Amino acid sequence: MDQFDPKLDIADAVTLNSSHYFNSETHSSERLNIFAKTWQLAGYADQLPKTGSFFTVDWLAEPLIILRDKQNKIRAMSNVCRHRASLLLNGSGTVASIRCPYHSWTYDLTGQLTSQPEFEGVKGFDKNDICQPSYEVATWGPFIFVKLMGVLRFEEWLGNIPKDAAKQGYDMEHYQFVGRREYVIECNWKVYVDNYLEGYHIPAVHPALFKELDYANYRVETYQYYSEQIAPLRKATDATKENRKYLPGEGPQPLYYWMFPNVMLNFYPDQMHTSLVIPISPTSCRVVFDWYLLPEHINESDDFLAKTFAFNDQVQKEDMEICESVQKGLSSLSYKHGRFSVKRENGVYHFHRLVYTYLDPI
Ligand code: FES
Ligand SMILES: [Fe+2]
Repeated sequence: MDQFDPKLDIADAVTLNSSHYFNSETHSSERLNIFAKTWQLAGYADQLPKTGSFFTVDWLAEPLIILRDKQNKIRAMSNVCRHRASLLLNGSGTVASIRCPYHSWTYDLTGQLTSQPEFEGVKGFDKNDICQPSYEVATWGPFIFVKLMGVLRFEEWLGNIPKDAAKQGYDMEHYQFVGRREYVIECNWKVYVDNYLEGYHIPAVHPALFKELDYANYRVETYQYYSEQIAPLRKATDATKENRKYLPGEGPQPLYYWMFPNVMLNFYPDQMHTSLVIPISPTSCRVVFDWYLLPEHINESDDFLAKTFAFNDQVQKEDMEICESVQKGLSSLSYKHGRFSVKRENGVYHFHRLVYTYLDPI
């Protein structure tokens, strides 16, 4: 029986039932009830420089083509051929029309079927009735988001994040993608998100990061569909100032967001980055880190990426080890639920409530 109760105050609450972290029913239900009904980060606008540019997304419940059509509009449509379900396009590139590799049915850039060889004599068949299903697309700064179904409005999902980022002086319109790093982790995607949503593990798991943070004042604020980590930096001493990348109280302050269900969005004075957590199986996930810079920093991007990858790899390695350990523990016969630190794990409880509510709509 599921003892998790989203109505409880955090002081009384328990964590999500451990079986949600490894069973295949939850995994399938999440595809439909969470990933299809929320806004998903599909890519960035630079991937679609001209008419006919496309890329495919293969990890959602519906395989997708994201493309730029002749009207310069970004579209998301099914990548599944209406004939016998072959995938139409692979990877990324530029096309004038979409031709199925199986029997050459051809669609235009709006998804409308335009030709199908040797189909004379088929009754009740009119090519004008056949169009690829299309899905909602929204953009913000360099990002392209898609949503497969459901009523969640993009603005409602984003909440005050755009306003808060603008207030700190972050200029969404000019960021350019500069690099990607991917990791496969042997844990359920929620283990990785849980871990991201609390600073409680920083002293034990990230000793180097801990030295930089004012841990006493680290906290998480939750909103309807996202949470924000307030992670002030420790004041630098004369001895440490030299090695510090960012100093507290100078210029725009870093902002760290998590957006339900699987995107982390971090702003720093000289860069922005996203992490996207993609479920692969009930017990594995892929985390994709993308970095963006403003044009004035683009010529430093090689140097920036080398340093950033090195630092990120270290923190990521520490998190991966602990997440994989948690995944093993979650399938223990003796463990069903944990409890939350009221002070440190409110962000995790907020996430569990959202997951529970989406999985079990009333
Ligand atoms: S499956 Fe696409 S043309 Fe047959
Ligand atoms: Fe961590």
